[in-house]
Amino acid sequence: MCGIIGFSGNLEAAPVLVAGLEQLEYRGYDSAGIAVQSAKGVKTAKTVGNVSVLKEKIKEETFEGSCGIGHTRWATHGGVSEENAHPHRFGKVTLIHNGIIENYKEIWEEYGAGKTLASQTDTEIAAALFDALYEGKPEETIRKAVKLLEGSYAFCIMFEGVPDTVYCIRKVSPLVAARAKEGSFVASDVTALIAYTQDYFVLPEDTILVLKKEELYLEDLQGRRVEPEMLHVNWDTTAAQKNGYPHYMIKEIHEQPEALHNTIAPRMKAGIPDFEVDKIPDRIFKEINQIKIVACGTAMHAGMVGKVLIEKRVRIPVAVEIASEFRYQNPIIDEKTLVIVISQSGETIDTLASLRLAKSEGACTLGIVNVKGSTIARESDYVLYTHAGPEIAVASTKAYTVQIAALVMLAMRMAYVRGKLDEAGMKKDYELLKSSVEALKLSLTLEETIKELTYALTDKEDLFFIGRGIDYALSCEGSIKLKEISYIHSEAYAAGELKHGTISLITEGVPVIAIATQESVYAKMISNIREVKARGALVILITQEDMEAEEAIYDYHLTIPKLPDEFTPIPTAVILQLIAYYTSVHRGLNVDQPRNLAKSVTVE
Ligand code: G6P
Repeated sequence: MCGIIGFSGNLEAAPVLVAGLEQLEYRGYDSAGIAVQSAKGVKTAKTVGNVSVLKEKIKEETFEGSCGIGHTRWATHGGVSEENAHPHRFGKVTLIHNGIIENYKEIWEEYGAGKTLASQTDTEIAAALFDALYEGKPEETIRKAVKLLEGSYAFCIMFEGVPDTVYCIRKVSPLVAARAKEGSFVASDVTALIAYTQDYFVLPEDTILVLKKEELYLEDLQGRRVEPEMLHVNWDTTAAQKNGYPHYMIKEIHEQPEALHNTIAPRMKAGIPDFEVDKIPDRIFKEINQIKIVACGTAMHAGMVGKVLIEKRVRIPVAVEIASEFRYQNPIIDEKTLVIVISQSGETIDTLASLRLAKSEGACTLGIVNVKGSTIARESDYVLYTHAGPEIAVASTKAYTVQIAALVMLAMRMAYVRGKLDEAGMKKDYELLKSSVEALKLSLTLEETIKELTYALTDKEDLFFIGRGIDYALSCEGSIKLKEISYIHSEAYAAGELKHGTISLITEGVPVIAIATQESVYAKMISNIREVKARGALVILITQEDMEAEEAIYDYHLTIPKLPDEFTPIPTAVILQLIAYYTSVHRGLNVDQPRNLAKSVTVE
């Protein structure tokens, strides 16, 4: 939520900041701004709209100076307006912020007497606090301020009279930093730094980061130097570009075979999933009597698939919980509970809070995370990294299928460790997992067909996804994908539940995407499809290729190769992603940046 960047070095700052913001735009895009420091003072430019609007606005302007900060916003506190866009300036302080200051009222009462605000944001009040505490010593000011601030924050701050320097501090909200030959950098995410270096570090909480032209350094709140713990990303700038595709989303859909290979291969030893590289001991699968999977959005939908997979194989109760609910429900967890948190970004605040709660109750925690070094990855007892590479489109695609692959491998290992599956069974399952990746490649070849058939959806107002078992979990994911980027109202229903209400909404021409890949409930699914077809639904049917379906019950029929029930989600997911993508494209929408959404949700 909100992307931030800071720079001090030997290049002109403005283009560096704008280029960084372009990489961070997925984090928020309702307004953007930069501030550049020079001997003449600080020059700020901001605008409503995304980074391209800012770029256009400043193209005739000159920004002298090689030190500055930039921000792309996802509004939380105060509406979308130029005044509310960052950077904010108050007195001698110019800053950007990602997060929420909860005690902004108290701070303003205490430090705002006789002063006026130019915006409706908590951030400007934080700037006022820094300004009020500033007596020429930035580090001391920050130390005092963080004792007073409540909430979450990542700040990059420039102080008047301190040239070429950006000061940073964070609590919960992410910040990474790096030193390269061009200078010192800080950003919300490594994608903004990758053009300069692949080596970076995560700024620890309660640590002040000082960016200067010639160096960067860290100090704890007692003023002692801290050595950063360096990380390395094994992808480069090309991975974070569109590379000829019209949108990030379609590029990321096509990257799935590689992402899956990168996630599966390092864990397979002689055809058996082994988490030695992840340092996940078998013990944690043995000493448990229940599993909770906690996540948000698409990651939660992957968890729903995981529940079916694990329960079927391991026969241990698995509950899937929405993170924002879990943390307030006084959940029943103890030392015998394994809590699996799933998060692409590793920063989703509700998922992080759930992880912390689970740890405090003594549960063992395992993170399935894509972003290396992210907070959830660092705080989980164990972490299983997915290797999807950077995912930029707000609608998650490759991160979802690799999460499913991770869950398949976990289910296999758990079953093995608990004596439910022998080595031969594991080897067989591994072959099937590989077959499901091959099947995904075949789903990608349906792109043209799906592009054509989705013209039938573009002018619809409502739409339904139905499925049973794993296909219900896939329906939830297909539905969220479609509605978030096409703005068509959509609902996912367990097919058997349809007649308890939703069927009243099925009238002539209402699209129903019927996912019927599960052999075990196929006959029941077909009955449910007949029920909607009889009421005039436009049916898009998805089955395995050998499943018989009479033509009268569907308008379009898409198939995946023959696979056992548990291995269908990966190829099916791709079909659903392509349906969402082309529906959005046909409607002329901004596929990668759907309205009101942001990729990384770091507010509650
Ligand atoms: C946001 C994104 C979703 C994502 C969810 C969880 O809502 O728009 O695509 O699934 O957050 O994100 P995470 O990074 O925790 O997987």
